[in-house]
Amino acid sequence: TKRVAILISGGGSNMVSLVESMTGDHPARACLVMANSENAGGLAKASALGMDTDFVDHRPFKGDRAAFEEVLHDRILQAQPDIVCLAGFMRVLTEGFVSKWQGRMLNIHPSLLPKYRGLHTHARALEAGDAYHGCTVHEVTPELDDGPILGQARVPVLEDDTPEVLAARVLEQEHKLYPAVLRRFAEGDRTPVKIGF
Ligand code: GAR
Repeated sequence: TKRVAILISGGGSNMVSLVESMTGDHPARACLVMANSENAGGLAKASALGMDTDFVDHRPFKGDRAAFEEVLHDRILQAQPDIVCLAGFMRVLTEGFVSKWQGRMLNIHPSLLPKYRGLHTHARALEAGDAYHGCTVHEVTPELDDGPILGQARVPVLEDDTPEVLAARVLEQEHKLYPAVLRRFAEGDRTPVKIGF
């Protein structure tokens, strides 16, 4: 059985969908939920699900990413994961950290990559007048929001959408896409998952 560590910064709704998916005949189990703040709302949800949780506050490192990541890496290693899933983890990771997990670290991003790397993806899709928007799960490489695409889910953009309404429509698909990709990935299958195409 593969062991999966999940890294979060916020509410952790994707983390919950991943943890809940790893039961029964699933080839993986969640071994740790890690946050970069004690206040990440997802930590309480993870505890309620019976998960081991931990956090490394990035703020005392005052922008020294490498020093933060060194502590983060040590603490993740204590759970001995085979796979690391970034699930709304909002710290940019350096090449040094990424290379330690290359080929074993996944991320979910709320756009149809390669469109809209970075932040404010929903507002940017609306601004551009796109007919479709969505989310992507990809392998993490040193370039931000880059790396081999392992799955995408697409939703229509509707007439009266606001960034918030569109984000909610995408998030619902994130909760389907990420577990579907993780299951395949844990089985050693990197064929992209496609939802809504
Ligand atoms: C999700 O929409 C995820 O795709 C996005 O943050 C949200 C986290 O929600 N990730 C990024 O923007 C990464 N740059 P959650 O904490 O409820 O899973």
